[in-house]
Amino acid sequence: MPYTFAKSAALQARAVRSIAGGVNSGIRKMEAPVPLYFTHGRGSRLYDVDGNEYLDFQLGQGALLYGHAPAGQAAALAEQAAKGTHWAAQSELEIEVAERLQQLIPSAELVRFNNSATEVVSAAFRLARAHTGRPLILKFEGHYHGWGDEGLVGFAPPADRWGSDEEPARLHPSQGVIPEVLEQFVIARWNDPAHLRRVVDRYRGRIAAIVFEPVLCNTCCIEGSRETIATITELCARDQMLMIADETITGFRFGAAGAQGFLGFSPDLTILGKAIGGGTPFAALVGRQSAMAKIINGGIVHAGTLNANPLCLAASRWCLDEVIARRDTHPAALIELGRRLIAGLNRLAQIHQVPLRPQGPGLAFHTVMLKPGAAPGPIIDYRDYVRRHDAPRWAHLRRCLLEEGVRAIERGLWFIGYTHTAAEIDEALGRAERAFARHAATWVAPAA
Ligand SMILES: Cc1ncc(COP(=O)(O)O)c(C=O)c1O
Repeated sequence: MPYTFAKSAALQARAVRSIAGGVNSGIRKMEAPVPLYFTHGRGSRLYDVDGNEYLDFQLGQGALLYGHAPAGQAAALAEQAAKGTHWAAQSELEIEVAERLQQLIPSAELVRFNNSATEVVSAAFRLARAHTGRPLILKFEGHYHGWGDEGLVGFAPPADRWGSDEEPARLHPSQGVIPEVLEQFVIARWNDPAHLRRVVDRYRGRIAAIVFEPVLCNTCCIEGSRETIATITELCARDQMLMIADETITGFRFGAAGAQGFLGFSPDLTILGKAIGGGTPFAALVGRQSAMAKIINGGIVHAGTLNANPLCLAASRWCLDEVIARRDTHPAALIELGRRLIAGLNRLAQIHQVPLRPQGPGLAFHTVMLKPGAAPGPIIDYRDYVRRHDAPRWAHLRRCLLEEGVRAIERGLWFIGYTHTAAEIDEALGRAERAFARHAATWVAPAA
């Protein structure tokens, strides 16, 4: 029998009376039929208040590379909690974590800690402007850099307002943003190096940094092409702009050195979040000594009461030791498991005649649902995605999957973690088989 969610629905009805909008992060409202309430997780599995058990591929929006409630991390947290949860001061732990980052990521010559990647994005942009004395940041359409005023410019613009292919509009998805913020950005399309060159040349001398998700996990899991990464590298060197890799999702997931190791490039600054803390509120700005100069000399303010919080540091040290211990098999082992899942989903799509096309390098991938008549083949940028992805149909299948105990991220992203086994992937595919059958039997396309 498909899962039901009566207790989650009752809690959500209660929550809206005390929590604004009923959730504490806007996107959690996307979970259909209702935002779920969980009781506990273990390894690859997650359990909700209705007694439903999920094979989880959402993994805390990617933070839980190490699965749910790993015993070693729980012990590290308990040990630290007994010594103190917060000092707002220095500890040897912070040096130990910083040294592990230096060991894992060649471009991480120096480190600063924060509690969310959104904060780190603000620090990186401030640093880049102070470092170069220039006002503008170039970012790519569809790339997500946190929920702050600056990080959201150009994220998910609606097709009727997104401007020409050559000059994408600077749009913001939120109300209440100071309008001048938009003027501090230049937007380019992803994976079009010739276009990128023209945009940089148009604003030459005024751009402080180029920021990007090296693998665009927030829109369809689109890897930066070799030429795109090479062009960003070349233009940053040519014009003395800082190259800022936002590795909030890709950091550690794509290998010990993140996507920069996976794709082979070396940024000036890197934004780390999610897997660095394994589910604790922890994030880091890492980068070249020269790019950190304005922090070292106090030229820019970088602060935070909870920065380098000892609980987060203890959790992070445990996480990074796990990455170090897996150095020889990571990320190959995750890629292999992801490919097994992708192959199974492709098989099911074929059997049930569902136009689903998983895209991505396995350890993370996105399930594109092609619109009727849309061309197959890899999606290359945000506009291509909006034009070809059938979001309502994916939402229907996603709900069927959830009702059978397979949990992917609402917008179509899937993560593989260290605790997923081949047997669990096959179990997930067994559950997915029922979901595909029900989807195929019940999906009705909305009237055009
Ligand atoms: C690429 C990227 N950058 C920044 C952020 C912001 O991270 P946080 O939610 O920790 O502030 C996210 C969050 O999903 C992200 O995916």
